[in-house]
Amino acid sequence: MSVTPAEAGQVFVNPAAYADPEFFHRACAVLRRDDPIHLVEHPDFAPFHVITKHADVLEIELHNKEWENAPRPVIANLEADRRRQEQGDLLRTLIHMDDPDHRTYRGLTAEWFLPKNLAKLEARLAELATHSAQRMVELGGRCDFARDIAMQYPLQVILSILGLPETDYPRMLKLTQELFGSADPELSRGVSMEDLIAVIQDFFAYFSELTEARKAQPTDDLASVIANATVDGAPIGLMEQISYYVIVATAGHDTTASAMAGGLQALIEHPDQLARLQADPSLLPSAVDEMIRWVTPVKHFMRNATTEYTLRGHTFRPGDAVLLSYPSANRDEEVFTDPFSFDVGRSPNKHLAFGFGVHYCLGAMLARMEIKALLAEILPRLHHIELAGEPAEMQTLFVGGLKRLPISYEMV
Ligand code: HEM
Repeated sequence: MSVTPAEAGQVFVNPAAYADPEFFHRACAVLRRDDPIHLVEHPDFAPFHVITKHADVLEIELHNKEWENAPRPVIANLEADRRRQEQGDLLRTLIHMDDPDHRTYRGLTAEWFLPKNLAKLEARLAELATHSAQRMVELGGRCDFARDIAMQYPLQVILSILGLPETDYPRMLKLTQELFGSADPELSRGVSMEDLIAVIQDFFAYFSELTEARKAQPTDDLASVIANATVDGAPIGLMEQISYYVIVATAGHDTTASAMAGGLQALIEHPDQLARLQADPSLLPSAVDEMIRWVTPVKHFMRNATTEYTLRGHTFRPGDAVLLSYPSANRDEEVFTDPFSFDVGRSPNKHLAFGFGVHYCLGAMLARMEIKALLAEILPRLHHIELAGEPAEMQTLFVGGLKRLPISYEMV
């Protein structure tokens, strides 16, 4: 069945469309071919253009003076837009900031995310990955990989880098799912704006306690860096502090979990690629990036024009918003050979799943290390794996992937 550009454009405002990747990608392919800068109009959303070509996403991300994150860094409906205009943003994270603040606040933790510091985490990652593989064995050859393993392991990593006790993991799992799953009735606390505000208030309460503890007694964890951070000699505000914890706790969780679950599904559905990877572990780094490209867990970010800007013959006006479609850019036929084939040895693989430019994902290296550690633990022990039911995708407009991946397997 063919899709018109007008129908295709509606996928970006329909959480259920992202839960149907086959349809979603068909819609993006139509836009890349027929209307790569497409105006999306919907009664519940302020109009925006969706950018579907890899080269155009790259160009906009690189021109961060002309294209800012504020005031609309991610898509929000008119009710949320109105609330933000009246009361301001609920959070002020790196993704809400532009230069010069963005550079200053990113600089506070940039060193912590450098390879030299992350290398110290190798042993902890290996330990958590072994624990996950062990859990698969304990589950007796059948599990929901998305829920039982992929959702748990990255959260354990994030909470251990923040220095939180294991007893708090269930509480944090619930809160992050409620925040990112707010468009999915199965995961969200409720559908109203009040429900979302209540989730954010719970984050505030939790992380305020953490800040006090790390101010009183700093350790070498990331929470201590955030709690004791200063700008121009003065401590950063509570809002900026809490926002920092929230972005680390959330940006590093569902994203990595979705890449792992979707990556495993791709391996199951491409047994030749699984066998190839098991036979040649030197392919692990390229396999990890291919999984991340394949899934592209962050579905978009938005940018807002600060000036007149012409792209592909279309002239934007100051205040115009664009939605950068990372999943579409990552299937762009002009950049990727055979973009719809899953190739664990893909090289080059210039995917944009981590974005580009000044906002490039701060945790990209950590995410790659985590996924590699898990695969390195599971794959050598895995003798057989298959789907044991229907996988289900989360409904979302922003971050997401599989919420269920029932599998059966033989593992030692
Ligand atoms: C596969 C996993 C991940 C994916 C696909 C992903 C993707 C992204 C994307 C697309 C952006 C926006 C980039 C842009 O605007 O150009 C971003 C930003 C960010 N990510 Fe990730 N991410 C992942 C894992 C992580 C992890 C593990 C962490 C940290 C623990 C993290 C922390 C952040 C932060 C702090 C930002 C904001 C950076 C800024 O605005 O300067 N991410 N990520």
